[in-house]
Amino acid sequence: MEFAKRMEQFGEGVFSRLAEMRKERVAAGKNVIDLSIGAPNIPPAKRIMEAMAKAVMDPANYVYAISDRKAMLDAVARWYQRRYNVTLDPDTEICSLLGSQDGLAHIALSILDPGDIMMVPDPCYPIFADGPRIAGAELYYMPQKKEHDYVIQLGDIPEEVARKAKFMLVSYPNNPTAAMAPIEFYKELVAFAKKYDIIVLHDNAYSELVFDGREWGSFLELPGAKEVGVEFNSLSKTYGLAGARIGYCLGNSKVVGMLKTLKSNMDYGMFLPIQAAAIEAISGDQSIVAETRAAYERRRDVLCDGLIEAGWQMDKPPGTMFVWAPIPASYEYSEAFVKDLLDKTGVLVTPGSAFGPSGEGYVRMALVQSEEDMQRAVDEVKKSGIFA
Ligand SMILES: Cc1ncc(COP(=O)(O)O)c(C=O)c1O
Repeated sequence: MEFAKRMEQFGEGVFSRLAEMRKERVAAGKNVIDLSIGAPNIPPAKRIMEAMAKAVMDPANYVYAISDRKAMLDAVARWYQRRYNVTLDPDTEICSLLGSQDGLAHIALSILDPGDIMMVPDPCYPIFADGPRIAGAELYYMPQKKEHDYVIQLGDIPEEVARKAKFMLVSYPNNPTAAMAPIEFYKELVAFAKKYDIIVLHDNAYSELVFDGREWGSFLELPGAKEVGVEFNSLSKTYGLAGARIGYCLGNSKVVGMLKTLKSNMDYGMFLPIQAAAIEAISGDQSIVAETRAAYERRRDVLCDGLIEAGWQMDKPPGTMFVWAPIPASYEYSEAFVKDLLDKTGVLVTPGSAFGPSGEGYVRMALVQSEEDMQRAVDEVKKSGIFA
């Protein structure tokens, strides 16, 4: 059998190695506190599950959805108006995604030809780079460095690259660095995209997970943003609907239209009961959003305050469900530190190298366990003396 060359870039990834390490430890009868994969574990509000359950019992809802229901598109438009003060045309400026991962994996196919340049942050959530790779694009990494608070320096992008690039992706609050970017960055981004005729994709998966009373909005609020690009949003974290797979591509009608056309040839749309759950999630009582935010914030406090007390110097994240922390100076590679940390404490985290070249020297911890488990992780790290 012969397989596609493109598969060669997807060798055994870090996440499979982490899964193997986890399996071995569990097989040896030892405990694991898994902070490696960012799988949200806060369930949706009852009203959302009830809306889905009701729709599931309707036999008419088992046809191919083919396209987004008008009621859902209208609800999404109302949500963006209410929450972000952004006006969207439901017919041309919104497209559902089977989770934003679906959009991130495929959108480059509708914009880039093989050899075209796509600019992605470094470090980044892996599909940001894998999507364009699948499309055969060339990647230009935009570093996100500690000395710039992990904000991309658009002025450092070589003129020649900017002229050639067709598409760029940015995302704050950021996975994995947990950084947020100032409004000035976004103004510069719109001007940059206009100057070089680059399509912008802003991934806003963590728009609601910002802490300490901070506020966050939408890229599309900026004047001119809709002329240059689109935003992805997701109900996975905000509404605890990760497994239901619900996301949206919103903004520029040409970009949205191309993605719709591509997707109409790839899938038959979102299961109708999931569309019903989405409508309920974004239209009903929004107190669940604040509760979810508060839960992640408490987990962050338990983990970060405890680990800092244990001697691990790190920044407390302003948002997201991640903590981005430097490895001790005695380690050269993040993967070696991750192995040692697991051996000595049972705490499993993700090496920064999994997120791109600039991620080396860091690890990412996901706030996906209860406060009690976060406290247990802290206790284990303290007991191990690894940072003493
Ligand atoms: C930055 C970012 N974008 C997108 C996703 C994918 O989310 P979804 O569940 O909507 O596919 C994730 C998931 O962790 C993420 O961290």
